[in-house]
Amino acid sequence: MNEESQDSRITPVTRRNFIAAASGGGFAAIVAGCASQSNTSTKTATASAAALSVAQAAHAASNDTLKVALIGCGGRGSGAAGQALNVPGTQLVAMADAFKDRLDSSLKNLKEAHGNKVDVPADRQFVGFDAHKKAIALADVVILATPPGFRPIHFEEAVRQGKHVFMEKPVAVDAPGVRKVLAAAAEAKRKNLKVGVGLQRHHQPGYLETLKRLHDGAIGDIHTLRVYWNDGGVWVNPRKESQTEIEYQMRNWYYFNWLCGDHINEQHIHNLDVGCWIKNDYPVRVTGMGGRQVRTGKEFGEIYDHHACEYEFKDGARMFSQCRHIRGAWSSVSEHCVGTKGNSDVSGHIIRVTGSDAWRFRSDKKVDPYQQEHDDLFAAIRANTDFNEAANGAHSTLTAIMGRMATYSGQVIDRETALNSPIDLMPSTFDWNATPKSLPDSNGFYPIAVPGKTVTV
Ligand SMILES: NC(=O)c1ccc[n+]([C@@H]2O[C@H](COP(=O)([O-])OP(=O)(O)OC[C@H]3O[C@@H](n4cnc5c(N)ncnc54)[C@H](O)[C@@H]3O)[C@@H](O)[C@H]2O)c1
Repeated sequence: MNEESQDSRITPVTRRNFIAAASGGGFAAIVAGCASQSNTSTKTATASAAALSVAQAAHAASNDTLKVALIGCGGRGSGAAGQALNVPGTQLVAMADAFKDRLDSSLKNLKEAHGNKVDVPADRQFVGFDAHKKAIALADVVILATPPGFRPIHFEEAVRQGKHVFMEKPVAVDAPGVRKVLAAAAEAKRKNLKVGVGLQRHHQPGYLETLKRLHDGAIGDIHTLRVYWNDGGVWVNPRKESQTEIEYQMRNWYYFNWLCGDHINEQHIHNLDVGCWIKNDYPVRVTGMGGRQVRTGKEFGEIYDHHACEYEFKDGARMFSQCRHIRGAWSSVSEHCVGTKGNSDVSGHIIRVTGSDAWRFRSDKKVDPYQQEHDDLFAAIRANTDFNEAANGAHSTLTAIMGRMATYSGQVIDRETALNSPIDLMPSTFDWNATPKSLPDSNGFYPIAVPGKTVTV
C-alpha cells in the first residue's frame, strides 16, 4: 500500500509494572543515551565490532556486496527492496513471507525491475511463520516489512543474528512489543548494528530544513501543534471458505489490532512522530475520543474509523491530533505548529514569523525520501558511522498506541502506564490453526472497544 496518498476487548487486567524500561525520560534522554552510548566509547564500539562476525565487520569497511533479505514481500517490502537494490553494491539473496503467492509476485516484479541484482533461487525462498529466521541467516542487511504486529519478533531475531536492519513503521502494536523493540534497539547499539526505520520524513530535505529552523528558535517556544492523517482508508480482502480465522485476519491485517494496532498506529504515526520531532520530546499524557461511525461492517474487523486526541508534553505544550478513514470527508495528511514568535506549516515546509516575510523551503533537486532513507542506511553501514533509529521508532509507536489506549478506554493515559502495560495482543502460538485473541461472534462481528468500559492498560 502506498501511504502518500484496543484493546477492543474488555480485559479485566490489573495494572502491573513489568519493567522499569528506558523510556520515561523522553526524547532528550534517549538521544542523550544514544550519544553517551556511542561517546562513552570508542572502547565499547571497538569491543562491539570485535563481537561482529568477521564477514560483517569486513562489510563495514570494504566494497563487498551487501546481501539483503526481504521479510514481508508485500507492497512496501517490495518497494523497500527495490530501494535497497538501487544502492550500488547490494544484492537480494533471500525472501520470506507468510504466504507463497505474495512472495512469488514480489520476486517476479523485483526480477523484472532489477535483473541480476535479484538472486533468490527456490532454496532461498521461505514461506510460513518461521520463514524470517532462515532468510535473516543468509543476509547482511534485512528489510522487515510485514504487518507491524510481527515487527518486535523479527527485529529481535535480526539483532540476535547480528544483522543490520531496515524496518518499516510502526514497530509494534502493543506495549510488550514496544518494550521488546527498545531492548533490541539497545542490543543493536551494543553490537554496532545500523538500524533504519521507515519514518522517511526524517530523510526528506524539506522537513530537515524546516525542523532545523524550528529547533534554532525561528518561531520561539512551540506551545501548540496540530497533526492529521484524515483520508479514505484502505483495502478489504473478502473472506474465503477455505481460510482459517488466523489466515483471514492476516489477509486483512489492517483491521485487527494484533497485526496493525489500528490506523492511528499504522498511518498517523508519521504525523505524531513529526510532532515529537518538533518538540524534541514525547508526550507524557493523552486524552481522546473515537469510534466507528461509517465503517461499521464486519469486514472492517475491530478498528475504529476515527480518533481525535489531545497530547500533552511535559512543558505544557499540546498536540491536537486527528486521524480518520472516512471517504468523502475532509482529507489532510499534514503537521502544523504555533510558537511565541510565529507559526509553521511544517509539512508544507513554511515558516511565518510575525512581522516578516514567510520562509519557504525551495530546492531544484528532487529527493525521494523512500530512496534517501536507504541511501543513508547503507552509507552508514559502509562508513561504520552511528545509525540507529530504532528507539525513536519505538517511542513514536508508543505515542500512537497511547492515543488508541485513550480513545478505546475514554481514560487519561499517561506514558509510563502505557509503556508498562501488560496487555499483549499477540496470539500465544503461531500456526495456521492458532487462535487470535479477537474472534467474531456467530454473525461474524468482532468485539469493538467501548469507552468507559474497555480497559487498555
Ligand atoms: N513508510 C511508509 O510510508 C509506508 C508505506 C506503506 C506501508 N508501510 C508499512 O509497511 C508494512 C507493510 O505494509 P504493506 O502495505 O506492504 O502491507 P502488505 O500487506 O502489502 O505486505 C505485508 C506482507 O507481509 C507478509 N507477512 C505477514 N505476516 C508475515 C510473517 N509473520 N512473516 C513473513 N511475512 C509476513 C504478508 O503476507 C504480506 O505479503 C506496514 O508496517 C506498513 O505500515 C510503510
